[in-house]
Amino acid sequence: MTNSPFVAFISDPHLSRERPFFQFNWEILIDELAQRSPELVIVGGDVTLDGATNWSDLEFAKEQLDRLPCPWLAVPGNHDIGDLVSCAKPSSRVTEERRAQYIQAMGRDFWSVDLANWRIIGLNSMVFTSGLSAEAEQEMFLERALAEADGRQVAILSHIAVCDNSLAEKDATGWFMPEATREMFASYLASGKIKLFLSGDMHQSRDRVIDGVRHVWATSTAFVTDMMEEWRPKFGGRKRVGWTELQFGTDVVVKMHEPRGMVDFDLGNWVHDGAALYYEFARGERFRGFGSAKDTVA
Ligand SMILES: [Fe+2]
Repeated sequence: MTNSPFVAFISDPHLSRERPFFQFNWEILIDELAQRSPELVIVGGDVTLDGATNWSDLEFAKEQLDRLPCPWLAVPGNHDIGDLVSCAKPSSRVTEERRAQYIQAMGRDFWSVDLANWRIIGLNSMVFTSGLSAEAEQEMFLERALAEADGRQVAILSHIAVCDNSLAEKDATGWFMPEATREMFASYLASGKIKLFLSGDMHQSRDRVIDGVRHVWATSTAFVTDMMEEWRPKFGGRKRVGWTELQFGTDVVVKMHEPRGMVDFDLGNWVHDGAALYYEFARGERFRGFGSAKDTVA
């Protein structure tokens, strides 16, 4: 390992065997990372198109992640195990069963890894405020991982971002961590135990220091939504597909990459009135796969 380990931070690839809408960009990413040779890839969630209701998506996402040219570690997103209990309709929420399926396909949903003088702690942000047993287990794990960091600087990886501009702000958009979770993090952040917060979910890249802590949002490798920002909340990020290079030295160096070969698919139309249309395509209610030549001849 080098003194400044090179980590590729990717997020929201939304992979699916039956509905491979974003496989093109994934293939470009695989080629690009094979050339760049990171030591580790970390994945900010939403690895699947709809793994919460489709086992095949989880299985396929694992196969695809195993094609990366180095080890990888992922945290789950709402598309993988269901949404936060606070902001989703009951049928879309995270459950024990969905979490268990994710773990069966992908491995651990919260973890810690040490790279030179850094410790990266990956968290399952979908169980925050869920009351599931995993929520308390994870909090204990986090406490221990921070206490035993041995002087290393700590970075947290979560699917959901902490806040827009301030830890104290009220979230009127529904895009950020629940207030109770933010309070749980606030003391760790204020005491300097956490230096860096990495998240996905937003499908836009952003790098901002908030209350003394750096918050880096990874864009999606798959698609953006409402690129012209005509109707979605504006968070000031850059809406282009790509990936994020992280060099973990004394400080962390962050560099966004937008490979020329990738296509900036904009799904704004699908989610303009909520995500219903997205899921109609993801679950095959409108799109039933490509079929085979034989099928169409018959
Ligand atoms: Fe996503």
